[in-house]
Amino acid sequence: MAMDLDALKRAAALKAVEYVRDGMVVGLGTGSTAKHMVMALGEKVRSGMQLRGVPTSQETATLAREQGIPLIDADNAWVIDVAIDGADQVDPAFNLIKGGGGALLKEKIVAASAKQFIVLVDQTKRVPALGGSFPLPIEVIPFGWGSTARAIEGLTKSSVILRERNGFPFHTEAGHVILDVHLARIDNPRELEIALTLIPGVVETGLFVGRTDLLIVGTAKGVETYPATRT
Ligand code: A5P
Repeated sequence: MAMDLDALKRAAALKAVEYVRDGMVVGLGTGSTAKHMVMALGEKVRSGMQLRGVPTSQETATLAREQGIPLIDADNAWVIDVAIDGADQVDPAFNLIKGGGGALLKEKIVAASAKQFIVLVDQTKRVPALGGSFPLPIEVIPFGWGSTARAIEGLTKSSVILRERNGFPFHTEAGHVILDVHLARIDNPRELEIALTLIPGVVETGLFVGRTDLLIVGTAKGVETYPATRT
């Protein structure tokens, strides 16, 4: 029988919001899994919980407002108690690929400034190694993107594709473009992240290395929770 992935995502999201306490500032992730989390937080707010959100995309901001979650001005030097977000892939060390939805830059800024980073996925996102089935998104400056792509190809020996939407280059909320890199397997995500960010034109990569504090996985047998250590 086919798994109801959306139900697994929702179950993980309901578990994640148990970590949110009254008065907290919460980093609100982006994507179909994070959406369940925002909706569950909305229910908490309507039941009287005081919390404020820092959204990682316009899409999430819109949903959070609809749910009645007060948002903090993006220009503030915020203190985020917990950031909760989905992922495209999770390896056995809880390193991630993110950015399938194109929000990786804000997602990484928010995750990095949170005291705790909770990642929620359905079981299909767990992989023995990052890469392979899912391309690595890299956010780059539009100026000279072709040369940046060539430099990434040279470094990774992998093909690089400019992400498009409706036949046009996809632009992130920060006005950048995204290059999707089709890597066979990422053996050393930290080394790759550092090497990529040294290429001029690269703004951020979808590699989230050593950032996860807690992984919550929705599985057909129930929700599994794995504490991790930031490295
Ligand atoms: C958004 O840019 C991404 O990083 C998402 O967090 C990631 O793609 C997971 O999305 P889903 O929960 O929709 O799979």
